[in-house]
Amino acid sequence: MMDTGLLPVLSTEAAPSSPGAPLLVVEKLTKTFPRRQSLRSLIRGEPRKRVHALSDVDLTIHRGETLGIVGESGCGKSTLARCLVRLYRTDSGRIAYAGLDVGSLKGADLRRFNRRVQMVFQDPYGSLNPRMTVRATLAEALSVHRMRPPREIEGRINELMDLVHLPRGAARRRPHEFSGGQRQRIGIARALALEPDCLVADELVSALDVSVQAQMVNLLLELQQRLQLTVLFIAHDLRLVRHLSHRVAVMYLGRVVELAETEALFNRPRHPYTQALLKAAPELDPRLRSTSDAVRGELPSPVNPPPGCPFHTRCPDAIALCMTVRPELKPLLDGRLAACHIAAAEDGLAAL
Ligand SMILES: Nc1ncnc2c1ncn2[C@@H]1O[C@H](COP(=O)(O)OP(=O)(O)OP(=O)(O)O)[C@@H](O)[C@H]1O
Ligand code: SF4
Ligand SMILES: [Mg+2]
Repeated sequence: MMDTGLLPVLSTEAAPSSPGAPLLVVEKLTKTFPRRQSLRSLIRGEPRKRVHALSDVDLTIHRGETLGIVGESGCGKSTLARCLVRLYRTDSGRIAYAGLDVGSLKGADLRRFNRRVQMVFQDPYGSLNPRMTVRATLAEALSVHRMRPPREIEGRINELMDLVHLPRGAARRRPHEFSGGQRQRIGIARALALEPDCLVADELVSALDVSVQAQMVNLLLELQQRLQLTVLFIAHDLRLVRHLSHRVAVMYLGRVVELAETEALFNRPRHPYTQALLKAAPELDPRLRSTSDAVRGELPSPVNPPPGCPFHTRCPDAIALCMTVRPELKPLLDGRLAACHIAAAEDGLAAL
């Protein structure tokens, strides 16, 4: 985490630099969805095609770190988030939480997992009961999950309001009486009521005004530090990801293609896709605003991902090998992970 110097309202407090033990470990995670089939192809009896949303994703999220996830629309970020909180069943692969296989959790272990790994939503309106006051919503979460005995609930509600910087008196109000940013704070307070150790934030701040975005990002940073939370932060705005994350994973067509410490990634991206993504991000350098292009070429269909390196159809550095042999996600010399034949060869780790 660092101060990018581009958004002064973001706090410059440093996040802890040494992550703890692995909290969530994702191994070879694959998730496909059936693609809608046309009537003609149904009549012809053609087999139903599938969208490859995640392919063999490997990822470790350490206790107490914020891991940013970036990549073009459709690369699988939300699918990954939803698999992690068990909103989706995976096709294959494994997710381990504190050493336990998430896919086979049952009973009390599953309830504990659901409590400790919480998704926070972009607009929690849908998940907050409009007829219930904030106090009633928080009291319900605290009592249903037996987080506090009845006599301590009022005090805990005050603590939660303090944690998300809402006035205690606002707990008497109902969701529609708040602004979008304040409703997100209520959603976060409700997640915190269950004392999670991991928050999954998928485009949490994307719909907010820039100044409110900065406040929410600062709140996440503060909560992460105070409560030693592990945070998965998915966002399109690379500046926010850079500000908040200890490490960043870059996804392309359902795969992680580079994973590095934040500053190493932004200062010296090694995967050609990361390089293109950063070049195309005007928010990282306002001087580039008028000249930057998007990553060149069309994003291939996730129904038929290209063979070899999935990025070869758009990569300026592609060689013949890239079209047939898929590069594995492997450590480079500085310890970051990258899935690129050329980057590995540049570090003397592979021969071309
Ligand atoms: N429920 C679903 N049914 C069918 N296809 C889906 C479903 N959810 C996602 N997909 C497809 O899976 C791929 C990955 O989608 P996903 O929503 O995970 O991407 P994303 O990186 O979150 O994109 P964005 O940045 O736009 O939010 C896309 O091709 C998408 O169309
Ligand atoms: S493996 Fe080849 S195509 Fe893929 S990113 Fe590296 S150079 Fe480009
Ligand atoms: Mg998404």
